[in-house]
Amino acid sequence: MSNYDWSSCKACVFDAYGTLFDVHSAAAKLSDRIGENSEALSNLWRQKQLEYTWLRALMPAHRNFWLVTADALDYAMEAYGLTSPELHKDLMELYLRLDAYAEVPDCLTRLKDAGLKTAILSNGEPKMLEAAVKSAGIGDLLDSVLSIEDAGIYKPHPSTYQLAVENLGVKASEICFVSSNTWDASGAANFGLSVCWLNRFAKQWDRLPGTPKAVIHTLDELPLPVEAEADS
Ligand code: LAC
Repeated sequence: MSNYDWSSCKACVFDAYGTLFDVHSAAAKLSDRIGENSEALSNLWRQKQLEYTWLRALMPAHRNFWLVTADALDYAMEAYGLTSPELHKDLMELYLRLDAYAEVPDCLTRLKDAGLKTAILSNGEPKMLEAAVKSAGIGDLLDSVLSIEDAGIYKPHPSTYQLAVENLGVKASEICFVSSNTWDASGAANFGLSVCWLNRFAKQWDRLPGTPKAVIHTLDELPLPVEAEADS
């Protein structure tokens, strides 16, 4: 943990998938139907989903995250010899109600109680984000749910992080941005947000621009809200 002074932060903005929501909970729930490659399929699904966002941003050939997620699942199912359209449909359905990580509601409640603004900034297409937030029961704890669809390009393009600045009406450096995705944490830090890298999965830091101000392992370690100094 760094010694960064977080007291100037007025808002806390979270990445969604992998940070608040467990992307592997969909395949885990249908592991009996997927078979022995369930975990590998889930990893490949996520890997291809992200790769497609970056590649489409470069081409450019934008397609919303729901469709990209379906394309990535098509690829992953073919890779493991799975052909069932029902399984594809059921996995996609489960993506609309992924498990939220256990500490998410308490973390958001603490931030709201301290008067900080809270938001999601995600690649997710608005309807899928709305469904995930509703299913996790955290809608009342969020001021904004922002989708990169308003920028028309995927993270880590700077215009996506700018959405948070504009929507929340605070300076970039006054936003604590939390992501478990190293490339997203890099992109946000390179843009100028104050980044807290949530290293949930014991990953290595990428060799990319942008440095996080803090590294945590669960949201319970978030350096916000800052405790008021006791009078001496
Ligand atoms: C998101 C992906 C990157 O929620 O996890 O934006």
